[in-house]
Amino acid sequence: MSWDMVDLYLGDWEDFSFPSGEADLIVSSPPYNLGKQYEKKVALGEYLVWHKRVLAKCVDSLSSNGSLCWQTGNFVDRGSVVPLDLLLYPIMQELGLKMRNRIVWHFGHGLHCKKRFSGRYETIMWMTKSDDYYFDLDPIRVPQKYPNKKYYKGPKAGQLSCNPLGKNPGDVWEIPNVKYNHIEKTDHPCQFPVELVERLVLSMTRQGDLVLDPLMGSGSSLVAALLHGRRAAGCEIDKEYFKIAEERVGQTLRGEIKTRPMGRPVYVPTTKEGEK
Ligand SMILES: C[S@@+](CC[C@H](N)C(=O)[O-])C[C@H]1O[C@@H](n2cnc3c(N)ncnc32)[C@H](O)[C@@H]1O
Repeated sequence: MSWDMVDLYLGDWEDFSFPSGEADLIVSSPPYNLGKQYEKKVALGEYLVWHKRVLAKCVDSLSSNGSLCWQTGNFVDRGSVVPLDLLLYPIMQELGLKMRNRIVWHFGHGLHCKKRFSGRYETIMWMTKSDDYYFDLDPIRVPQKYPNKKYYKGPKAGQLSCNPLGKNPGDVWEIPNVKYNHIEKTDHPCQFPVELVERLVLSMTRQGDLVLDPLMGSGSSLVAALLHGRRAAGCEIDKEYFKIAEERVGQTLRGEIKTRPMGRPVYVPTTKEGEK
């Protein structure tokens, strides 16, 4: 792997030359308009106009059988929850995209709410440009619950009744979020885990394909792409986050990056017998 596989841009995505019709997968997580340190909170209408522009650029940049995976959560307005994917769906439809899944990313940690249930999931909108989209389930199959189950009657009696390569992981993914003790944690306040993107990269692209993240933050999407022999492009407006992304891409190219391995079961603390 070498830097030839990577295109990094420091600046506003509006000034970045998106690869025209070449991106096989665009994975990104936009600012949620919450007034975090990397964003200025604006009126919801203005936020959606900004989104329309960035999404239109993404659609132009997608290859004809490519996928767009837009990972979002909630915008919260004086305690009232606004699910962003609900607002973004009509914009994406207008741009001609078709939804293939609304993946629920479930995680165990986060803020504890006092006047509503604590938020423990976000979503990934998986959209495609055409019906002829690339998708391969095999690299991301998960172990079957009963791997040795066999047909007990009929012409297939005695043969395995489930796929020995494993089953479809479904559209609810339990992956720990990147909090303080996570191996991938950097100084970026809102990283998504590399494992979340690895599943998308492995199922929606082939070796050598191009993965783009126009709002790359700490570069998690690029790390996931490079780990699996894909090319990667990303853009980030903040100098400090850009430096983090550049450093992580370098570590990945040198084989030094540390990530939580795909498929590792979520840690469940146990208590000793008799302990309360
Ligand atoms: C939610 S974070 C993405 C985090 C990323 N998924 C990761 O794992 O680190 C959104 C990022 O978009 C960047 N950003 C916001 N507006 C931008 C713009 N106009 N152009 C480029 N980057 C922008 C922010 O600085 C922030 O790092």
